[in-house]
Amino acid sequence: LSRQGFPAGFVFGTAASAYQVEGMARLGGRGPSIWDAFAAIPGTIAGNGTADVTVDEYHRYKEDVGIMKDMGFDAYRFSISWSRIFPDGTGKVNQEGVDYYNRLIDYMLQQGITPYVNLYHYDLPLALHQQYLGWLSPKIVGAFADYAEFCFKVFGDRVKNWFTFNEPRVIAALGYDNGLHAPGRCSKCPAGGDSRTEPYIVTHNIILSHSAAVQRYREKYQPHQKGRIGILLDFVWYEPHSNSNADQGAAQRARDFHIGWFLDPITNGRYPSSMLKIVGNRLPGFSTNESRMVKGSIDYVGINQYTSYYMKDPGAWNLTPVSYQDDWHVGFVYERNGVPIGPRANSDWLYIVPWGMNKAVTYVKERYGNPTMILSENGMDQPGNVSIADGVHDTIRIRYYRDYITELKKAIDNGARVVGYFAWSLLDNFEWRLGYTARFGIAYVDFNTLKRYPKDSALWFKNMLSEKKRS
Ligand code: GCO
Repeated sequence: LSRQGFPAGFVFGTAASAYQVEGMARLGGRGPSIWDAFAAIPGTIAGNGTADVTVDEYHRYKEDVGIMKDMGFDAYRFSISWSRIFPDGTGKVNQEGVDYYNRLIDYMLQQGITPYVNLYHYDLPLALHQQYLGWLSPKIVGAFADYAEFCFKVFGDRVKNWFTFNEPRVIAALGYDNGLHAPGRCSKCPAGGDSRTEPYIVTHNIILSHSAAVQRYREKYQPHQKGRIGILLDFVWYEPHSNSNADQGAAQRARDFHIGWFLDPITNGRYPSSMLKIVGNRLPGFSTNESRMVKGSIDYVGINQYTSYYMKDPGAWNLTPVSYQDDWHVGFVYERNGVPIGPRANSDWLYIVPWGMNKAVTYVKERYGNPTMILSENGMDQPGNVSIADGVHDTIRIRYYRDYITELKKAIDNGARVVGYFAWSLLDNFEWRLGYTARFGIAYVDFNTLKRYPKDSALWFKNMLSEKKRS
């Protein structure tokens, strides 16, 4: 496997998000986000970890960009913290925050690392949640579009690759259906909520916010800045457990509720018919105008692909849905005839299934008219690997990357229009509810000293990327 086998101009990079790596959460003029409030509740995060410091990229970005450069990466996908720019979500700008992103972007460009910038990775300004429940209110659409526009105006002379949102499905499912992510809402959650309706309302408002931001970009900035804009979607591959019609139907339903939720409206202007049928009037509708705005609202799409599951039809399916999960996901299975779908990583949701990569990307190609894709996240946390001595020798991760990238290449060779690949992540960092107990980095971080140690997998990338990029 070498980069020479990839199409001309293909980009390799690593990805991370503001809250997971920046630190300075309470400093530098940043306002609190819903994650600061959520993580502060005792027992919420493994080890009661917080992202107050995390890996301190705010101060160590030069070192981190240096590691990327040394490994031969072309690009870095990071996110902007909305409340570092607008501490209250709207209104007053925090210039210190703007200065930070300017320093980061300028340094990256000077070092030859291309910025891929995502505007929202889970960290809603707390003020907007307190004022009107954030994503649950249609008021958020204008607030997000204003924030996005500010970023286009201030950074768009140098940033040419934009994404509006990362993984809106995860925002809805974990933030509003089971309460494992901020703002921790669900039917039974102490924070309140309604798992039957809120995941769909939140997602609807996110899709509208996305398309409003894209419209501003296209009308006012893209003509002279000449960048592109899209959205980042997580996609688990769902393989039918058997070739029975019932299991195939279950797998298709799962794909609809997972990625069709977004790619159907973006491609056709409406939600998948399976969702309209199952969710019924709990699913908000698009007006004619909204539907027109959403349709075609991407120049490219990011696919975050880590894992695959089997889907089995549950048979008599008469349970009254009490949540988004109930609407479709009654049949996850991790084995067939006693054989697991793949070895498990450290995280309980992550099974290693390289062939799922090919299938997921090929599915997007075939079902959605082969949009330009970026494989925007892929990676794993290796079990064990806690001490430095052990942690840097990540043989399982090397195999994971080699096998997944090989499968990605098969999809590309068969015509999928994938133009970039980003590993998650450069560094071990704050892994949401798992805190610092899950290490996804290709560089090990000693969380006491914050020193970075490239793992064997980083050297594997270095070797793979050492051949000249095709231009
Ligand atoms: C995302 C992901 C990342 C995780 C990564 C490893 O939303 O893009 O949740 O933030 O850290 O997927 O689990």
